[in-house]
Amino acid sequence: MSSDPVKPITSKPEPRVPNRAVVWIAIGLVCLSVIWGLRPPSPQETPSKTMAVPITPDKVPLVTGEESFSDLFTQAGCAVCHVIPGIPGADGQVGPPLILGTTGPQRLKDSAYRGEARTVHDYIVESVLDPQRFVVPGYPDHTMPTWYGSKLSALALEKIAAYLEQQVGEN
Ligand code: HEC
Repeated sequence: MSSDPVKPITSKPEPRVPNRAVVWIAIGLVCLSVIWGLRPPSPQETPSKTMAVPITPDKVPLVTGEESFSDLFTQAGCAVCHVIPGIPGADGQVGPPLILGTTGPQRLKDSAYRGEARTVHDYIVESVLDPQRFVVPGYPDHTMPTWYGSKLSALALEKIAAYLEQQVGEN
């Protein structure tokens, strides 16, 4: 083929006939990429279905209400899903920021509100014990756990409501 070693000086560059090795390398690369594409997904790549609800009742201890506010919200798991002013590490984005001093009155006035609370304090208690009563618009339904009634003592619930109704901020 074009392997004539004696080339006239004036000749044009060799015609671009792909040489066999190049063809085989290309075929090899295609095969490799097909095999790569067909390999079973590794566990890290499969998105975890439990990511939206990272917290289950067995992970939450009984909360007595004797804890500090910080421990109370952290142990109950609220901090995983909510921003709570003044609580270190409470930066969850799953639910609304717990600034009920600001948002509580808005919820009670909301025409879609069908709960029984008349005060922000009671609205907080209701939201924790029966979250399906009123699902805050723009946030996922069936996500806030419904089992807090069996994890929080009456004192813990009182402290939660008393703390959250004081919190204000940008909505
Ligand atoms: C797995 C995530 C998750 C956890 C854990 C969680 N929440 Fe929520 N929470 C949500 C979501 C989502 C909403 C909004 C939808 C709704 O109203 O149900 C919400 C709504 C609320 C509301 C109503 C807020 C508003 O602006 O009207 C309150 C109050 C509340 N949560 C308090 C708590 C407290 C207190 C805890 C811990 C004892 C807690 N949440 C734990 C996800 C969570």
